[in-house]
Amino acid sequence: MMRRLKWIAVGALLGLGTLTLTGRAEDAPDPRAAQVRAGAQVFSLVCAMCHGDRLEGVGGPSLSDSAFRAFYEGTTVHGIYNRVRDEMPLDRPGSLTDQEALDVVAYVLRANGVPLPDGGVRADTLDAPVHFAAAPQEDAANPAERAAP
Ligand code: HEC
Repeated sequence: MMRRLKWIAVGALLGLGTLTLTGRAEDAPDPRAAQVRAGAQVFSLVCAMCHGDRLEGVGGPSLSDSAFRAFYEGTTVHGIYNRVRDEMPLDRPGSLTDQEALDVVAYVLRANGVPLPDGGVRADTLDAPVHFAAAPQEDAANPAERAAP
């Protein structure tokens, strides 16, 4: 009787173990999702006052309209990254860390439907091409939601 209970207990443990492993495999976090979330925070703290909560532009230009898209379409991530790192925020250029600049670029690209390079926007993926989704999103209703890769 005791022996039987023991095996049931072992079985239960094994079962749980398998469930945990499976869960882990399926929920493996995409590093890009975390980066986009971090970038969204930088954006709302540092950029939104000029570029708008929905990238629609306020004092600064829209970062989601067709002019923006046309300008960066077919370029590499490098171009927009350099612009942000060296010139933004306009009132305090150079105040972002490199990581903040990488994260906020990931967010802006993702909010525009641009697929991010594997592993996210990093110093070694800046050569990745920028391709916008076919349909322009003049009114970025909820970039944070759309931003999830
Ligand atoms: C004080 C206002 C201000 C803040 C804050 C600001 N920007 Fe800008 N930004 C501007 C203006 C004005 C321009 C257009 C003139 C220029 O490029 O110098 C611009 C241009 C840009 C461009 C180029 C747009 C294009 O069409 O080529 C990007 C990209 C950009 N900003 C991203 C950011 C990001 C990301 C942040 C936050 C880290 C940020 N900006 C913060 C005012 C601002």
